Amino acid sequence: MLDPQKAGSPDVSTFFQVSPTSALYSPRLAHIWLTALDERTLVFDNPQGGVTPQPVAVFPSRNAHFLVLTVREGAEGAVRDFLTDVAGIIRAVDFRATDERLTCVVGIGAVLWDRLFDAPRPASLRSFTPVVGRVHTAVSTPGDLLFHIRADRPDLCFELARQIMDALSGCVDVADEVQGFKYFDNRDLLGFVDGTENPRNQPALEAALVGSDEAPLTGSSYVIVQKYIHDMTSWDSLSVEEQSQAMGRHKLSDIEIPDAEKADNAHVVLNTIEAPDGTELKIVRENMPFGRPGSEEYGTYYIGYASDPAVTERMLENMFIGDPPGNHDRILDFSTAVTGSLFFVPTIDFLDDPTDALEALRRQDPVARMKDEDRHEPGPTSASEYVNDGSLRIGSLKGADHE
Ligand code: HEM
Repeated sequence: MLDPQKAGSPDVSTFFQVSPTSALYSPRLAHIWLTALDERTLVFDNPQGGVTPQPVAVFPSRNAHFLVLTVREGAEGAVRDFLTDVAGIIRAVDFRATDERLTCVVGIGAVLWDRLFDAPRPASLRSFTPVVGRVHTAVSTPGDLLFHIRADRPDLCFELARQIMDALSGCVDVADEVQGFKYFDNRDLLGFVDGTENPRNQPALEAALVGSDEAPLTGSSYVIVQKYIHDMTSWDSLSVEEQSQAMGRHKLSDIEIPDAEKADNAHVVLNTIEAPDGTELKIVRENMPFGRPGSEEYGTYYIGYASDPAVTERMLENMFIGDPPGNHDRILDFSTAVTGSLFFVPTIDFLDDPTDALEALRRQDPVARMKDEDRHEPGPTSASEYVNDGSLRIGSLKGADHE
């Protein structure tokens, strides 16, 4: 177990601003003590043993590389092996320039989960469902693996992407690849400072990470990504005042427009949502501009981490269907979503060795448990033949434990 009094060095500047000499107690992540080891790694030190989340909520980086891949049939075993090796690949690139804050988050899509693991899916892992409004649609596009690579220098992002693609050579196809960058003072290409109201410190962990009530998934996260293409000609034809009303914040100063003066269809209005008890529901975003001026391509790569993807999905419903229906997000009139995928983000421990977590998931699954208890029953004899909805998976390529 980690001793919070001894961990880390006292001068690291962390997004969470956690003093390495003190531990934090999280009300929602009950009975879990959080300790900052360095700016990228948090260890959950709990009675069941520590778990280390992937670096989903870090200080905004200057550059990012997004890779969305699909896994070829038959490559499941190689991908399982790769997942156990990926931390070493990240370490090798990071160690060449440790000041550049290289991080990488790995996400696993619902369809791939069923192909890789003979255990029920994490409760909220599902394929991204398109959100169809009267005017705009959030499309769903293929994605088995997500790599969200961030660093202050683009060459580090590039090198890690290259090493990952080398390691997965012959196993995957690229569904989408975007190199993003921070534009002036954290602005998107619509010209607005992006990320201001992101939760920080403890609230960021609360928003992004699965709590101890969902063991064995404690410390995991869910992420939704979408690639948006902007119609800059139309957007630039608006006055600055009209653009500010579309976003709900003043463009130059980034100060929020007072509620009484905000438009109902402003982006920040439709994305401010509450739980039934009035608590504001937050996600952790790190949008990145991207573009190719020579091809007149200007876009925002949206990425949002949540402890429950239903929060992000509700924001998307507000944006695309509207609240009330028909009152859609004004920025969608200038921004088209061309991709959309949902991924589960396991802990670093899971990537390293998923055996215990998979076993715990099997034990929790009533269908699998029933099978365990009645081993003489004819027909399918293991949880590997079932998916979460109970349907048969005869002929499945799964079998992490058997290869
Ligand atoms: C074209 C894509 C998008 C752009 C350019 C964009 C840009 C922005 C900007 C400039 C802000 C205000 C500053 C800030 O607090 O970050 C903002 C706020 C926000 N955005 Fe987006 N965004 C996009 C897509 C999305 C999507 C798809 C979601 C959710 C599914 C989302 C959720 C939010 C939330 C929760 C806030 C903070 C609202 C508040 O608490 O005031 N955004 N976005």
